[in-house]
Amino acid sequence: MSSHDNPRKPETNVNDQFVSRWSPRSFDANQSVEPSQLQSLFEAAKWAPSCFNEQPWRFFAAAKPSAKFEAFLQALVEKNQGWAKNSGALVFVACTQTFKRNDKPNAWAEFDTGAAWMSLALQAQSMGLHVHAMAGFDADKAKAVLGGDVDQLKLIAAVAVGKKSEPSVGEYASEAPNDRFSLAEFCKIYE
Ligand SMILES: Cc1cc2nc3c(=O)[nH]c(=O)nc-3n(C[C@H](O)[C@H](O)[C@H](O)COP(=O)(O)O)c2cc1C
Repeated sequence: MSSHDNPRKPETNVNDQFVSRWSPRSFDANQSVEPSQLQSLFEAAKWAPSCFNEQPWRFFAAAKPSAKFEAFLQALVEKNQGWAKNSGALVFVACTQTFKRNDKPNAWAEFDTGAAWMSLALQAQSMGLHVHAMAGFDADKAKAVLGGDVDQLKLIAAVAVGKKSEPSVGEYASEAPNDRFSLAEFCKIYE
């Protein structure tokens, strides 16, 4: 975490893993992410709940150094490339769009994939890694890189995985965890 003020103060009792997870941009370019670490992230994702246990999430990962990592990087928008290049691995997150059981559209596939991604994020945190999701990528470029692997799939997001640089440096030297709306703004518990 940066030395800057951390505005994150939970309003009530909660496991600290939820409050302390955040998405830095200042990754340490000298720290690699091993395939076994990526497997642990996907193992965590695997146990997420899903509609009819369909497990619609699909993950495509490339660790540095590799031509695939560079190709993944080029599929990100320029702003994201600027910091994600220092991460140790890039992941594209996709989902299936129909149920295996009956070929009908699965309207919950993205909900389920969101759950899986969050499991991945919390597993990363427990391993001393950070992850940072990105909507900022060019879907056509990503599809060109992933080829037949993503036929029929919906590409949802990219994720950078790595070790945060300590302290944060350069353009992101002052980055720090951000805050949230209060509970009263987004939930209501009926009596
Ligand atoms: C689906 C999704 C897309 C995002 N896209 C980007 C992105 O393209 N570039 C970026 O720098 N951050 C991106 N973020 C990071 C969010 O800005 C960040 O998660 C949010 O501000 C909350 O901060 P936190 O993750 O540190 O708690 C994205 C996050 C998610 C979940």
